[in-house]
Amino acid sequence: MTEPDRLAARVADIAPFQVMEVQTAARALEAAGRTVVHMEIGEPDFPTPEPVLEAARAALADGGVYYTSALGLPALREAIARHYAERHGVEVSPSRIVVTAGSSAALLLVSALLVDRDDEILMSDPGYPCNRHFVRTLEGRARALPVGPDSAYQLSADLIDRHWSARTRGVLIATPSNPTGTTVGPDEMRRIAEVVASRGGRLIVDEIYLGLTYDLAPGARPVSALSVTDDAFVVSSFSKYFNMTGWRLGWMVAPERHVRDLEKLAQNLYISPPTLSQRAALACFRPETIVILEERREAFRDRRDLLVPALRGLGFGIPVMPQGGFFVYADVSRFSRKSRAFCREVLEHAGVAITPGVDFGRHRADEHVRFAYTVARAKIEDGIARLARHLGRA
Ligand SMILES: Cc1ncc(COP(=O)(O)O)c(C=O)c1O
Repeated sequence: MTEPDRLAARVADIAPFQVMEVQTAARALEAAGRTVVHMEIGEPDFPTPEPVLEAARAALADGGVYYTSALGLPALREAIARHYAERHGVEVSPSRIVVTAGSSAALLLVSALLVDRDDEILMSDPGYPCNRHFVRTLEGRARALPVGPDSAYQLSADLIDRHWSARTRGVLIATPSNPTGTTVGPDEMRRIAEVVASRGGRLIVDEIYLGLTYDLAPGARPVSALSVTDDAFVVSSFSKYFNMTGWRLGWMVAPERHVRDLEKLAQNLYISPPTLSQRAALACFRPETIVILEERREAFRDRRDLLVPALRGLGFGIPVMPQGGFFVYADVSRFSRKSRAFCREVLEHAGVAITPGVDFGRHRADEHVRFAYTVARAKIEDGIARLARHLGRA
């Protein structure tokens, strides 16, 4: 390689998304005339709710799409704070809310705020791969701790305490998680916050799937980590519950004393979150939008309740029922110990696109695959029938 083409070492350490490769292969099959059931992509199939589109049209018509403050539109920060009070029963000052360009930017900002060279952030394996890469981009070290069904694929306070080292700077928890859909309950979250505080570290909680929590008791609300601690960085998003993936909008609730430094980082990294998206998102919290979104949450729960028992019946191992999000992490060791080859076979022979476990870490990753129930019931039924035929269980 010539000297001008030499790249920073971090580039080689950042893996591509296998899921995108599955999608490309699926599209190629479709172009050749095959039908494919898409269960690979972590993106809701529902369109952005109409009141949000209307708000965007109005914003375009009046032309008010200049830069905003790096922290976001004051009215949106206030609306998010009200949402925490109404939906999660927790009081959060709007001054602690940092609106970001997707939760991806929030995760990058908090990594930039906390991570120095060689600092460690503890996270779960399996887990969302970009988190490792954000930390690596900042010259830190993501330490992914193997977790399994015994801890619902989540880190526990005990595990965190045992693995804390002189280099550990903080812990990242995602609840509900991608790829497992499993959650950390409020009692364990409180214990985790206590352990992290006692070690002088920082807690980051990714709650981007919190709105999509199922099996709540009647009248109960999904519990945010903010109800057990004020000293965490809690990341959320308009992408999933609010069906606004491509609008690139998310937020973080930060301890008050860190907001100014996060603002400084945001100003420099991307100036401000997208204005049109922020003005559209103001309509997310209107009662008529919430009605639409709650119907969709019910639809996701129905799909989960269709998919999980059917997969178990076919021999996939799903020891813990996913409680939220729209993913099922299934053990395929009964069929294969090479998740990539298994996914390729299932795609080519059955026309079902799913994601190999190797996208989410190393721990038993080759014995797992991820299903996304981001398609309608009829398609899920078709996918199950195809898998049953492929696995000789029809
Ligand atoms: C756990 C988790 N965190 C963060 C993100 C980033 O989402 P966005 O930047 O669209 O908010 C995703 C996307 O799939 C995710 O699954």
